[in-house]
Amino acid sequence: MSGNSPLFTSIKIGNRTAENRIVMNAMECCDADEAGNPTDKTYRRYEQLFEGGAGVIVVEALSVIDECKGRLHQLTALPANRKALEKFVTAMKKVNEKPIMLWQLTHSGELSHPDFSKRVCVKPLPGYEGELLNEEDVEYILDQFVLAAKMAHDCGADGIDFKLCHGYFGSQLLRPYNDRKWKYGGPFENRARFAYEAYERIAKEVNDPDFIVGSKVSVWEGIPGGMGTLGPDSPIPDPAEIIKLCRGLEERGAKYILQSAGNPSITLALTQPDKKIPDYVYLHFLFQKQLRDALRPETVVMGSAYSVLRNGSNNLRGVKDEESSFLYWANKNIRDKVCDMPAIGRQSLADAYLPKKLKEGRENEVHWCTTCDNCLEFLIRQKPVGCATYSREYAAALVEIRRQEGRLTEKHT
Ligand SMILES: Cc1cc2nc3c(=O)[nH]c(=O)nc-3n(C[C@H](O)[C@H](O)[C@H](O)COP(=O)(O)O)c2cc1C
Repeated sequence: MSGNSPLFTSIKIGNRTAENRIVMNAMECCDADEAGNPTDKTYRRYEQLFEGGAGVIVVEALSVIDECKGRLHQLTALPANRKALEKFVTAMKKVNEKPIMLWQLTHSGELSHPDFSKRVCVKPLPGYEGELLNEEDVEYILDQFVLAAKMAHDCGADGIDFKLCHGYFGSQLLRPYNDRKWKYGGPFENRARFAYEAYERIAKEVNDPDFIVGSKVSVWEGIPGGMGTLGPDSPIPDPAEIIKLCRGLEERGAKYILQSAGNPSITLALTQPDKKIPDYVYLHFLFQKQLRDALRPETVVMGSAYSVLRNGSNNLRGVKDEESSFLYWANKNIRDKVCDMPAIGRQSLADAYLPKKLKEGRENEVHWCTTCDNCLEFLIRQKPVGCATYSREYAAALVEIRRQEGRLTEKHT
């Protein structure tokens, strides 16, 4: 029975214990109100996730700053949001107090949306140019991350995910491409300064050994000079610097590293293997293993990109269906010390109850994500995100969006 598998054993993350190994990855869903507070839609999504019983639930990217956001209706972690976020945390803990709740904190930097935000950058990347930040600007951003982390703690979250992936601000500084001559560029020590100082300050100012701090990291960004490459103009993967970075985070208190890859704005298929190229999921396994082999045994390694595996009905070839499913690989990777906790992104939208269903041996009742990426279409259109395959509400919303764009006629709907 699924419930007896390694996936359903507990694990310590810092001083806390996750009841099982399933992580609900951060999924921004563009349904906050004008002030960046959770709405009824946000509540509904998270109530289901908490009822679903994952070991860890990462609350989607909350912006620590209002003027540089990637989504118009993004959650924000500003002083003005404090009351609403406190209420939100209390409500979710009431639904189910067991899952570890982490808030993913971010700044969008060069991925801030120019229609409603100020696009800023640390070194202009072709196609993503913005106002060049100076050292004082970065120090101000750092202060905002620390404030938001303190707020997460005071609102009752169990920890934060300090975002260092997917081409957002934290990762823009870390890239070898950031060879600008300034306090935050050039040699590794300068590029890692922001993340390291943030960890040190958060540890000092939150001052709670039970509060978890960790990061989601793009182990290879897949662009020349991106994270995890050989140098400022090389796209060639090289894990050495990422391992050095994560060891430095460990020394500064990181309790977990959540592996990811790519930059969804540029190298989407790498971040989110889909049915056309499901094989990229194996690259994620490699990156997870590189981290697992290199980090301290007590540092939990979470691995991304498991949605494409489904119940084995995927486009992976040269393997039996039953040996290519989510359950098969999740259990095997935990057993083989490839990772400690598999994380699901799109699958969490398709079925928030996956952990509960698998634990109870109801695998045949799971709504398996089809990796159709309609959820991504909502995100790109800045519309509330949900699963249009399994939810009538979101299926109707998608039809409406396509009709408004003239991509559907009456007879299609
Ligand atoms: C609609 C949507 C929203 C996402 N939002 C976030 C986010 O807020 N933070 C983040 O780190 N990744 C985000 N991601 C990426 C996922 O967390 C995950 O890394 C990626 O989808 C690969 O995992 P999967 O194959 O299980 O979906 C998002 C992806 C999608 C499709």
